[in-house]
Amino acid sequence: MAFDDSLVKDVLKHADIVKVVSAYLPVIRKGKDYLAKCPFHDDTNPSMHISPELQIFKCFVCGTSGNAIGFVIKYEHLSFKEAVKKVAEICDYHDPRLDDIHQTKVVDPKRGPLVKCLHDLTVYYQYALNSPEGKAGLDYFNSRHLDADLRSKFLLGYAFKDGKATIRFLEEKGHSLKTIEDAGLASPTTGTYTDRNAGRVIFPIIDANGDVVGFSARRLGDGQEAKYVNSPATYLFNKSTLLYNFNNAKEKARIAGYIYVLEGFMDVYALYRIGIESCVATMGTALTEEHIRLLRMLNVEIRLCLDGDLPGQKATMKVANELANAGLNVRIVDNQNSTKDPDEILNQDGPIALNAYLNKLISRVDFILNYYKNTNPLQTSEQKTQLIQEFVPVLLGIRSQLELDSYLNKLADITGYTPEAIRNILKTARSKPKERDFKEIIRQNNPERKVLRRLEFAERELLYQMLQNPEAVAFYEQKIGGFYDETYRIIANYLVEYANEHKDFVPVDLITSLETSELAEKDILINKISELYLERNHPDVCNQELLDNLQQVIDSEKERIFENDTLEQSLEGKDPKEKARILSDFNRRRLRKKR
Ligand code: CTP
Ligand code: MN
Repeated sequence: MAFDDSLVKDVLKHADIVKVVSAYLPVIRKGKDYLAKCPFHDDTNPSMHISPELQIFKCFVCGTSGNAIGFVIKYEHLSFKEAVKKVAEICDYHDPRLDDIHQTKVVDPKRGPLVKCLHDLTVYYQYALNSPEGKAGLDYFNSRHLDADLRSKFLLGYAFKDGKATIRFLEEKGHSLKTIEDAGLASPTTGTYTDRNAGRVIFPIIDANGDVVGFSARRLGDGQEAKYVNSPATYLFNKSTLLYNFNNAKEKARIAGYIYVLEGFMDVYALYRIGIESCVATMGTALTEEHIRLLRMLNVEIRLCLDGDLPGQKATMKVANELANAGLNVRIVDNQNSTKDPDEILNQDGPIALNAYLNKLISRVDFILNYYKNTNPLQTSEQKTQLIQEFVPVLLGIRSQLELDSYLNKLADITGYTPEAIRNILKTARSKPKERDFKEIIRQNNPERKVLRRLEFAERELLYQMLQNPEAVAFYEQKIGGFYDETYRIIANYLVEYANEHKDFVPVDLITSLETSELAEKDILINKISELYLERNHPDVCNQELLDNLQQVIDSEKERIFENDTLEQSLEGKDPKEKARILSDFNRRRLRKKR
């Protein structure tokens, strides 16, 4: 079939390159363009630019570039046709002409014999389930409410107790002992080959291609032996790269717009029983990079639903953060008041209860706040300060003012800080250059890289002098319009007030006064002040000359920062060439000013 040019044009017309790249990678907005870490070379900073205007991507380091189709071809190693179809899928564009395109599976000669062997065994296990011996397995499944429909959908089975006979069956089917061993079905540790799953019920594990690649075998009921026996890692099977039910769920997820991530396959069946098929399970392992990669491809909301017990809560914290850091959209099933897994909820409390449970979704930030509130009452002020510090980056990432306010109030509630104090801390964090990589770029372009350090140094020196003698306090009050550094400024203002009320105070009084004050951020302030007191490298005379000098540095550096901020604004949204021109012009002007 000659490939239809107009089809390609139509797909591209309906495609959005940002959406396409986002289906594979976290993407951040920078002015008019978007940036991502380039997947085509070992990228550390995001060097791949994506232009929605031009509908192209380009990596400024390795040079790889192209349109949406080109991206998919390179990323997924697909043919041109397959990539066209994929782009259409990601961008929700439907066209009957696309239906004729099918992904040609890459033939891997090592895969074939293993897949065939695992397939034959799966059928054998299913047959065994319906044999007289298999009655025990059938009863077990029924006791867990896994009906015939679910059993056939998930290819559930039973392994005969005679494990040697099972191996003989496979050999008679033409599979070599080597293949049987390589498929992870048996190993000759005891001199003879015998099925390691013998006497258990069988849950086949299917990979993203739809092939059985391994088994999980459960003991019937309670007992001494291991609850589950899993296939060992093989060429095909690796628990950390597989998500149970991914193959079925991927289509369902695109339609639903979300996917539940669960812990065990029993939980997957529970969701199926109430009609939710967009779900996968990690099979008890931690969520890995590879799992995250699979989930990202779906481009849907992740609904994390792990156990409600303490280890489950801890895992949820970790995984939710990993998912968010990887740029995925995640919400969490609020399991704080439940220690039951979905399977137990369904069997004990019924379908309505499970539905309600799954729909009680909270944001990651809410989850973290609840977690601290419920599981780990913060006791010492250090713990509280620590929590605030951990939360600053989270809060900085929040766009909506309403949302931010609600989090501020909650965090205030938990820590005892006032919302205003936390807001102040956020402001400080925002003004720190490392929080803004763009400032970093400007700094790197600056012939004198010491801007902020010089300013900080001068402010610190002046604050130190203020802590030592009242003239410096008066000087600050009259000549300095406030420190740039937020913490220094709060201390200085407090000091001014204090000095006005206590004419002959000694420095340590200040700490005592802070200790007993209502100021929410007092611990931070006390810390900073003590640190300053303990510093030894300060001039021990404080004269007018020193103060004038400090003022001069503070004034000029603040002005320079102001200029930088203006520069930053003027660079926003410009193309690289234009940016370079503005920067060199800026530097030329600054050098001229210095002379
Ligand atoms: N798992 C495992 N080996 C074990 C225990 C658990 O491989 N010894 C995996 C299984 O994939 C299981 C998942 O971890 O589905 C979750 O474990 P758990 O919550 O203990 O199992 P449930 O799914 O609740 O199974 P059941 O209800 O049968 O006890
Ligand atoms: Mn369970």
